[in-house]
Amino acid sequence: MSIDALLLARIQFAFTISFHIIFPALTIGLASYLAVLEGLWLQTKQQVYDDLYHFWIKVFAVAFAEDEIVVTDGGLEALNLCLQAVTAPGDWVAVESPTFYAALQVLERLHLKAVEVATDPVSGIDIAALAALLEREPRVKACWFMTNFQNPLGALMPTTRKRQLVQLLARHRIPLVEDDVYAELYDAASSHRPPPAKAFDGEGLVLHCSSFSKCLAPGYRVGWAAAGSHAQTVKRLKMMSTLATSLPPQLAIAEYLATGGYDRHLRNLREALSRQRQRTLRLIERHFPAGTRVTRPEGGYFLWLELPSTVDALALHREALAHHQISTAPGVLFSADRRFVHHLRLNVSAPSGDGNRFDEAVRILGRLATARAG
Ligand SMILES: Cc1ncc(COP(=O)(O)O)c(C=O)c1O
Repeated sequence: MSIDALLLARIQFAFTISFHIIFPALTIGLASYLAVLEGLWLQTKQQVYDDLYHFWIKVFAVAFAEDEIVVTDGGLEALNLCLQAVTAPGDWVAVESPTFYAALQVLERLHLKAVEVATDPVSGIDIAALAALLEREPRVKACWFMTNFQNPLGALMPTTRKRQLVQLLARHRIPLVEDDVYAELYDAASSHRPPPAKAFDGEGLVLHCSSFSKCLAPGYRVGWAAAGSHAQTVKRLKMMSTLATSLPPQLAIAEYLATGGYDRHLRNLREALSRQRQRTLRLIERHFPAGTRVTRPEGGYFLWLELPSTVDALALHREALAHHQISTAPGVLFSADRRFVHHLRLNVSAPSGDGNRFDEAVRILGRLATARAG
């Protein structure tokens, strides 16, 4: 699948960014510019770090230790470094099934083997299946899970399950690389951010990774890892690869947080995404073939569709891209074993101003799927 063809698509259901980020991106761009004019540019790295640290403590309500946080170039660098810190080439790593395709690429780059663990579309990783795997397979040396609004399922692990997960991993001394980039995007009707598994970790075995990319601006490339007992190794790897993360975007974000802009933006974003999930679900019910099943996540901006077994989702994706310039993310991308051939992930975060084009694109996809369902 050519990246160029995907980028040129008129309607983007494929990508992992929210299409609601453009306005705050401009706002914080301006904040950054004003900060420079005001001489804040001279602020030390430590001051910026302190601002961000207070934000982390407040938002995650987790007792992160100040010296366990490593600021990174986006969440993906945090995940890369953390996984590298806790594994050696040839190790096995437990991942969800389906999982985010970039996780599979990181494993491949580090010469690690992905072991897929059954994952419920609503409540996430199957703890019993993971326990059985850890019992029988000593080659598993780490886990990489998304506990809140998993990509692509949108699954949200209940708090009790997160506790069980952390306890199970502590018994086996297995580190968890926790990918938590979507947690801020909880449903507008819900009153609080779901906690990460990190909140229940007393042993420093959870390496919590996140970023501002999904809720604010992917181009700023500001992320972090709270790497627990592996923090020193992660810091060393960061220094050895990119030395440090650029300061101006951190400064701009710290300003934006301090002025309350981020909170306001998140409230609007959550409402817009909740509305769009509902709108898209109604369209799918109306236009997709009988037998289509779709997730109903309580946050994030992905819907995961299981099409009738006669529909090859990769062929559907190719047809939609070639003839209608509509990009989707076919299910095979989300598995090392090429499972999920009848599945499709849709990013439903297109701005409401694009409502008609967006609605029309869902209708077209539904029509193409219906024709293939026979
Ligand atoms: C689940 C998940 N983790 C991590 C990332 C990467 O985040 P960032 O853009 O901050 O590197 C993405 C983005 O696509 C994602 O969907």
